[in-house]
Amino acid sequence: MARNRLCPPPRVVARNPGRPAIATEPVCIGRSDLVVNPIGVGTWQWGDRRYWGYGIDYDAEDIAAAFDAAIAAGLNFFDTAEIYGRGESERLLGRQLERSGACVAVASKYMPLPNRFSAAAVAGAIDASRRRLEVRTIDLYQVHWPFSLLRKGVLLRELARAVEGGLIRWVGVSNYGAGRLRRAARLLASYGVPLVANQVNYSLLNRAPEINGVIAACRELDITLIAYSPLAQGLLTGKYGPGKRPDGAGKTVSKFRGHDLVRVEPVVRALREIGLQHQKSPAQVALNWLIRQPGVVAIPGVKNAAHARSNAGAYGWSLSDAEAQRLNEVSAPWRKRGLLDRLL
Ligand SMILES: NC(=O)c1ccc[n+]([C@@H]2O[C@H](COP(=O)([O-])OP(=O)(O)OC[C@H]3O[C@@H](n4cnc5c(N)ncnc54)[C@H](OP(=O)(O)O)[C@@H]3O)[C@@H](O)[C@H]2O)c1
Repeated sequence: MARNRLCPPPRVVARNPGRPAIATEPVCIGRSDLVVNPIGVGTWQWGDRRYWGYGIDYDAEDIAAAFDAAIAAGLNFFDTAEIYGRGESERLLGRQLERSGACVAVASKYMPLPNRFSAAAVAGAIDASRRRLEVRTIDLYQVHWPFSLLRKGVLLRELARAVEGGLIRWVGVSNYGAGRLRRAARLLASYGVPLVANQVNYSLLNRAPEINGVIAACRELDITLIAYSPLAQGLLTGKYGPGKRPDGAGKTVSKFRGHDLVRVEPVVRALREIGLQHQKSPAQVALNWLIRQPGVVAIPGVKNAAHARSNAGAYGWSLSDAEAQRLNEVSAPWRKRGLLDRLL
């Protein structure tokens, strides 16, 4: 099993989650020592055939090229999960890490499946992920979903034990609403471990975290908000529109239907016009809007080197306040509570 990956001693910056946002600096994940580029790399696409078309439209060679391009562009935070491609995402990432020897932070996730009702299941899942990733220690280990048959106290205690045992370094959660986040942070702290991240759906086309209390709770507790689906699964790239619907099973979801594609047009138009001022693409502008916010990191999913290079170009420059305000206004219809908010 390989060594830990985040090799150089991390330079601690941007520890205050309420600091004025600058999309040109690395950020610290919560109270951890993980200092990362605020543009990370999402790897659900790696090995997932059914939703994303891995093995049909793109393959392991594209993934290797995406990895190399990401590293060359300075991206150093990779997000995976045991369920992505039934472990294939972790395997592919592990292979790239082993091949390249790159120093990056690796985040993975534990899925609280209904058949996992014993503490031993947590330890087993961590071991399996470490094996697939070929790492001794997983830098950030997140609970993928808030519902679990295993009592919260037991699950979090097991994660705290795994930190103590050096199997994982830091603990995060995902899809947690504000109340659950506060309770989880309190419980974990009672075992002497801080909660450092909450990974939620956040983009110009899903601004629920701004009004359901999640961003506020993250800032108050010094927890980094890791924005997943930051490009609304491709909608914010501007490559889809009425008459230009994507292929693939995953793209049958409602947001890619004609009516919704029409609604999105003003947002894409604004992204395009603002991008022209900076020689940036709509996707890069959409990602910059996210990472200019205090305590927010974005993990766009990539399938190939071009995606990785393009997404890295969202970093190192900043929208003006007026441009960000224009994007706030044009995306205001998406500043509403999500369907699952009451539940989460
Ligand atoms: N915690 C959770 O519950 C959860 C849920 C979902 C995702 N995630 C994580 O978040 C990551 C990102 O979310 P996501 O994959 O759902 O959505 P996303 O990042 O919004 O969209 C990714 C898709 O957008 C397209 N794309 C990406 N970069 C592009 C570029 N520069 N130019 C043009 N197209 C580009 C690609 O799809 P096409 O080429 O097919 O258009 C890519 O598959 C995932 O990989 C995963 O790691 C976590």
